Amino acid sequence: MYKTINKESLYYGSQVILMVTKNPETKQTNITPISSSWTLNKSIVLGLGLNQQGYINLKAGSNLTLNLADASIWKNIEKIAKTTGNNQMPSWKKRKKYQFCSNKFVLGKFTPIQTQGESIPRIAECPIQIEANVIDIFERSDYAIIECESKQIFVKDSLLGENEKIKVDQWRPLIYKFRTYTTTQNSFGENFRFEEDY
Ligand SMILES: Cc1cc2nc3c(=O)[nH]c(=O)nc-3n(C[C@H](O)[C@H](O)[C@H](O)COP(=O)(O)O)c2cc1C
Repeated sequence: MYKTINKESLYYGSQVILMVTKNPETKQTNITPISSSWTLNKSIVLGLGLNQQGYINLKAGSNLTLNLADASIWKNIEKIAKTTGNNQMPSWKKRKKYQFCSNKFVLGKFTPIQTQGESIPRIAECPIQIEANVIDIFERSDYAIIECESKQIFVKDSLLGENEKIKVDQWRPLIYKFRTYTTTQNSFGENFRFEEDY
């Protein structure tokens, strides 16, 4: 037997990403924790609420970095979770007592890494980091779907073996599952194409 359920959202278990963007006018960088993403080849598609400062920055022309969170930093992420870089937050966020935060790097104790002067910082505590550009934006009533293109992938040396192979067993992605934080544990086996990429 099954029951149908009625939920506003269904966070069935996805990688937590710290998205870094920059306000093109004020040059203020911002971190937006997200879990709504999927990727295929060089495309990465994100889902963002229209009032997120991260989205406002992207719409205004910011590039972005997508920093894939390691399981060890979940408390740092929860520390910035109830904050926004948007000083005109929507009423539902006021009701939930979100706070404005102009520097989530400091609040969450994250270390910025800047490749060049104007580039968007990456986050040192995230072992896999992606520099990306926005290709297209599709706005819905209160959220947007953002298509990005991955430009450069950075992986911490300790996670890499020979020939740029990622040490898959050592990667502990932070997973957001029904608003709880978890990670992957036992590997059941490899896909028949595993050797092509890893
Ligand atoms: C683990 C986690 C995952 C989240 N995933 C998303 C998401 O995929 N899309 C989104 O718009 N907000 C998501 N949020 C909520 C935003 O991070 C939150 O609204 C935040 O205030 C936005 O920050 P900003 O306004 O500074 O961009 C998530 C929050 C957490 C803690």
